[in-house]
Amino acid sequence: MGLSLKERFGRKFEEEIRFFKGMVSQPKAVGAIVPTSSVTARKMASVITPQSGLPVLELGPGTGVITKAILARGIKPENLTAIEFSTDFYNQLLRHYPGVNFINGDAFDLEKTLGDQKDQIFDSIISAVPLLNFPMSARTNLLEQLLDRVPVGRPVIQISYGPVSPIIAQPSRYHIRHFDFIVRNIPPAQLWCYTRS
Ligand SMILES: C[S@@+](CC[C@H](N)C(=O)[O-])C[C@H]1O[C@@H](n2cnc3c(N)ncnc32)[C@H](O)[C@@H]1O
Repeated sequence: MGLSLKERFGRKFEEEIRFFKGMVSQPKAVGAIVPTSSVTARKMASVITPQSGLPVLELGPGTGVITKAILARGIKPENLTAIEFSTDFYNQLLRHYPGVNFINGDAFDLEKTLGDQKDQIFDSIISAVPLLNFPMSARTNLLEQLLDRVPVGRPVIQISYGPVSPIIAQPSRYHIRHFDFIVRNIPPAQLWCYTRS
């Protein structure tokens, strides 16, 4: 049986409270006021090709809005790996999305954080880590590590809130494409798509 409207609103409200608490305790790490909207999450997940049979990597799942959209796209929980830095969010994610391979760790230290999966190739990578709060060298280094883990031509999708790509252009290394601008998000969100040149 589906949830009633009242139950759905109750859950959404609880999720926003959880997110807000995370934001208050770690403002720099969380980097947004409210969770990503379901419209944005669906758009980000739309790049996934479930038929590839490859797993998907998510960075910074928070309360799991994008996790939910990735699963709804047809990815089995065991084919999704998601790295979350906050232990509070991580514990909640384990409860809400059983079967997903959540890792409580630092996405910027990918080799160590992925452990057994450090050499895994993913279909695509969906990231909501607040890149703008990290130095540019850390952002480009992360992107290089991510692009080494998807087949050539497959995307790394990043959400951001500024008018320009949060990662500087290096045309010889990777290609940057503005993927979408979503007004139905607080604040309105920019989506960026990075692929290997
Ligand atoms: C802007 S919130 C996005 C949360 C959720 N995906 C959403 O869209 O509503 C950023 C998330 O990235 C996580 N995060 C920040 N730094 C991280 C890091 N170095 N490694 C993994 N996750 C990180 C935060 O804890 C937070 O959950």
